[in-house]
Amino acid sequence: GLSTEELLKRVEALKKEMNAVILAHYYTLPEIQQAADIVGDSLALARAAEKNSADVIVFAGVYFMAETAKILNPGKLVLMPDAGAGCPLADSCAEEEFRAFREAHPDAIAITYVNSTAAIKKLSDIICTSSNAEHIVRQIPPEQKIIFGPDRNLGAWVMKQTGRDMLLWQGFCYVHEAYSEVYMIQVKAMHPGAELIAHPECREEVLRHASFVGSTSALLDYTEKSPSKSFIVATEPGILYEMEKRSPGKTFIPAPKDPANPRSVCKQMKQNTLEKLYLCMVNRAPEITVDEQLREGALKSIRRMLEMSA
Ligand code: 13P
Ligand code: SF4
Repeated sequence: GLSTEELLKRVEALKKEMNAVILAHYYTLPEIQQAADIVGDSLALARAAEKNSADVIVFAGVYFMAETAKILNPGKLVLMPDAGAGCPLADSCAEEEFRAFREAHPDAIAITYVNSTAAIKKLSDIICTSSNAEHIVRQIPPEQKIIFGPDRNLGAWVMKQTGRDMLLWQGFCYVHEAYSEVYMIQVKAMHPGAELIAHPECREEVLRHASFVGSTSALLDYTEKSPSKSFIVATEPGILYEMEKRSPGKTFIPAPKDPANPRSVCKQMKQNTLEKLYLCMVNRAPEITVDEQLREGALKSIRRMLEMSA
């Protein structure tokens, strides 16, 4: 195969030739983040997909992110290094079951995490990300019933922050669900000066021990601004690359995972290798497509999110 350096050079040349923009999530491999024009959290990447003048969007993330980019840009070619990189949380929420859940609560609106399929987005009223979930829920009149899915941990966190009751879909992210309270207490005891920071997809028993909870972008900003010199990071460790880059003098400790459930790396994010990134640009495939009726349905709830979080 080609060296990392050679691949980066070729990707850079192809980008100009194709008028392409490369969007990558913070959980991707360091060399992917290096190749990207924009690295961000789900909300920033959706915004970047909406506002750009490129002809081609190359999305290094998981499927729902590239699908959201296509929904916002039907006229553009949207490519993914590996279209098989799906988010298991999104894929765990089946259309028929979600429809039945909605039908069981006809007086509730559905606020849905962006980690969901286009079909679920079409069945929803407003999309949210971990960056804007609390802000969006606060704009809903207090008497209005809310269904929140598919992530129960983010839902529970928003309920705690806002004091609102919501009907939660019982989905979770296997990466964040793997962190447990005992290991958080242990790691804090081992690093008494370090601040524990966590993503809201973690369970409440973990979030309870964190001094800051937020989306990947919010966690990054926090590590830059906080006077602390070291942090225990309870989210996918791919984010340490950007944390170290932005705060070279600080120490970042990945939160330990329970050995009984050793899965704190998002395997799907890591399916985006530099070689596959290069090949998807050469081949202009795999291309992400969305059925037009599905796209229009899902676009409504995504647009409401963008309006409500402006
Ligand atoms: P962010 O929007 O916080 O980047 O989260 C995306 C995600 O998939 C978390 O697991
Ligand atoms: Fe999905 Fe979890 Fe991976 Fe995020 S970290 S993409 S929620 S599986």
